[in-house]
Amino acid sequence: MSRISKTLMGSVAGLAMMSGAALADDVEVLHWWTSGGEAAALNVLKDDLAGKGIGWTDMPVAGGGGEQAMTVLRARVTAGNAPTAVQMLGFDIQDWAAEGALANLNDLAAKEGWDDVVPAALQRFAKHDGNWISAPVNVHSTNWVWANKKIFDELGIAQPTNWDELIAALDKIQAAGYTAVAHGGQAWQDATIFDSVVMGVGGPEFYKAAMVDLDPAALGGEQMKTAFDRMAKLRSYVDDNFSGRDWNLASAMVIEGQAGVQFMGDWAKGEFLKAGQVPGQDFLCFRFPGTQGAVTFNSDQFAMFGVADDQQASQVEMASSVMSPTFQSAFNVVKGSVPARTDVPDTDFDACGKQGMKDLAAASASGSLFGSMAHGHAAPAGVKNAVYDVVTAHFNGEYDSATAVEELVAAVEGAQ
Ligand code: BGC
Repeated sequence: MSRISKTLMGSVAGLAMMSGAALADDVEVLHWWTSGGEAAALNVLKDDLAGKGIGWTDMPVAGGGGEQAMTVLRARVTAGNAPTAVQMLGFDIQDWAAEGALANLNDLAAKEGWDDVVPAALQRFAKHDGNWISAPVNVHSTNWVWANKKIFDELGIAQPTNWDELIAALDKIQAAGYTAVAHGGQAWQDATIFDSVVMGVGGPEFYKAAMVDLDPAALGGEQMKTAFDRMAKLRSYVDDNFSGRDWNLASAMVIEGQAGVQFMGDWAKGEFLKAGQVPGQDFLCFRFPGTQGAVTFNSDQFAMFGVADDQQASQVEMASSVMSPTFQSAFNVVKGSVPARTDVPDTDFDACGKQGMKDLAAASASGSLFGSMAHGHAAPAGVKNAVYDVVTAHFNGEYDSATAVEELVAAVEGAQ
């Protein structure tokens, strides 16, 4: 463990007890919440902290999924200049904790009873060696479809519930002259669809065997070939300009009525809301056909890095804000995610948010809740990046499905 983190273990704990606006300094926050909906949600946090007298120094690093943000973070830490707080996902949090770089939030967590209200699936990432090392702000899930309701109504399309119905719906949308699938050709976006497709092909058991357990038989079997065949089929519904497009611009295509659906995590809902759209009226949210009952999740968490003594009170204040039930409701209503605490009422959430909360609880109870591979909750970054490479190469036509399956087995093995 590094010297700085040992110091932190002691002093953050002490300051937690006497924390207050008078002691607090500014926080510098590294994050990748740069789209309209994301920025609106971030403002909820900035305002909350401002109310406590804590200023905000913004360190945005654009790039959905946070890959670029993690590269910038590594450079900052290496230069001995870590930000105060960092948005982070799953295994990345664990990796930084293993390096001894993260502050220990045990005293605050004990004082506020986090153990009792944060579900085990999130504690698995927010704790390291039994110590709290991050504050979970939300739970997102990746197996959603966001649809333009006017297009569905105009073409008489009912919500598809399985793969064949989905394909029939996409064919209809395409035949009517719309882009059927709004998509941005970036590796993390391709992988986000892959989460759903894998779950849809073989259900929770197959998803777990392939994406979580990294079982070579599941990664290299017939079902995985079917998953790649389905990815190739979906590729036939995107427009010619999809390459490199940011995810929020793909959402805009659905919002503006140019495209029928987007397969994306529920941060997409933030874009629809920011555009003044209402679920059930302007857009539809439903689970990726064939994955109903299951949830592939990711949780944005704030990890605190080793900083000068005078900034530690702000870190504790920020963690405390993030974990407050009222904040978790206000923030997630805007962000599209659902609370990381199990004791937050769904009163203020729209229909999609209420469904998200219900689905999460049901999937957790039935053992059908699994971390998203695309968003760093199924496997460490090395494996995730190996999966990205194969999925994207296949999506862009470099491999046929049989080759992709072989490459996937080899890439995942090589990355472990
Ligand atoms: C994060 C979301 C974010 C999305 C797109 C995901 O990895 O968990 O909070 O909105 O990336 O940027």
